[in-house]
Amino acid sequence: MKPEAGDREGRATSAAPTSAVPESQEEVTAVHSIPAFGDARDWFPRRRLGLFVHWGLYALGGWHEQEQYRARIPRDEYARRIHDFNPVRYDPDEWLDLAEEAGMSYVCFTSKHVDGFCMWDSAHTAYKITNTPYRRDTLAMLAEACRRRGFPLCIYYSIADMHHPSYPHAGRAYELLEPDPGDEPDLERYLAYVEAQVRELCTNYGPVHGFWWDGNVLGHQDPTFNDLIRSLQPQAVINGRGFSPGTLAPMKIGEGDFDTPERASVYDGAIGELPAYDRPTEACQSVGIESWGYRRNEDYYTDAHLVRSIDVVLARGGNYLLNVGPRADGTIPEEARRILRHVGAWYRPVCESFDATTLAPGLVHNRDVLLTRRGSALYVHLCRPPTGTAVILAPLDRLPLSATLLNTAEPVDAQVEVLPDHSLLVNAGRPCLRLCNLPVNRLPATALVIRLEFEEAP
Ligand code: GLC
Repeated sequence: MKPEAGDREGRATSAAPTSAVPESQEEVTAVHSIPAFGDARDWFPRRRLGLFVHWGLYALGGWHEQEQYRARIPRDEYARRIHDFNPVRYDPDEWLDLAEEAGMSYVCFTSKHVDGFCMWDSAHTAYKITNTPYRRDTLAMLAEACRRRGFPLCIYYSIADMHHPSYPHAGRAYELLEPDPGDEPDLERYLAYVEAQVRELCTNYGPVHGFWWDGNVLGHQDPTFNDLIRSLQPQAVINGRGFSPGTLAPMKIGEGDFDTPERASVYDGAIGELPAYDRPTEACQSVGIESWGYRRNEDYYTDAHLVRSIDVVLARGGNYLLNVGPRADGTIPEEARRILRHVGAWYRPVCESFDATTLAPGLVHNRDVLLTRRGSALYVHLCRPPTGTAVILAPLDRLPLSATLLNTAEPVDAQVEVLPDHSLLVNAGRPCLRLCNLPVNRLPATALVIRLEFEEAP
């Protein structure tokens, strides 16, 4: 249920949870403006921030996860990388330590990207991690660390496959213009391969908490794939990029348990007009601008852009998957690590503004902020680069009992007054609530979140 503009009740819960991971069913129901699944998949709305990892043979090129496709590298030449991939510094616990530092509470790992290389010991192909000099099953190692630490693991799987000889290439995105000599395109055979691999991934690696399909450029529809995942891993949330009916091209919204907006689509438009999501949503974004996999000389998003985009998505009731691309040796680049730590330093003190809150659209005229609320608390999210030292919350005209900048726990000056600039047009000469002397110059690279406590919810 979406809160209506002017709804005075809010969705109160008895206590403000302090942890990023609410435990009870009641809290889960309140976390989103969307009904909970009501089953084992409800770990998902409890854990709002996740780590996405794009890792595979493409890390050796240090350019892009689709290097084979985008740079038109012949299959045999690309496949020779299998002899060079040896991630001796891979330590899944280090990855999870970093994720925890970033405030993240689940991980999604690329088991197979469009190059078709398998990061697990699949019985159905020789093109796999255990045939590299490393020999070890990287997915199994991550799954073991996740299980030991109670950290939900989701699996990314590309349907498009530049390597498998049965894949029916037809020059669509992530495909060869036509099959290579010697290929035997056969959709049915290829789908049998996918099914066998899904079965493996959902059987041999302990609990799988999510299945992240990608690259269904075939446009093929077949609900039995998701049925299979559900029968083997009932707690797995499944995204809408797979074979389920309604699924369109990659990146389009389809069926499945949740939508997956990525990159710019996360952050477009006037912030203050954005509605709460009406379907479970997990936005995804990479710390690097050009690539999801490791890029040697990557350009990075600013800290401010990233935390503001996370703020927008979480305030609207979505989850957020932030991606890093580890190097071929298994280590996460220093700048990506720094960014993740920055995200964590931002997230921890402000996360109460997302827990069991709902978006409060239409409460103020200000288009630069989003408001979330829980009970008598209202949270003001400055998700746009602030243009001044004050935030005007017309037509609210009541002083809160307290105003606190969650980022630093410092008090915020609040006044109710008639503003010269707002007197005629915006607020018709009426007094309005003004939060002022905000430390916007001292804290430029972040998303400020202010908690207003009222006697009664406005
Ligand atoms: C984009 C990229 C793809 C990546 C995906 C993650 O679609 O093209 O390579 O895996 O984003 O969402």
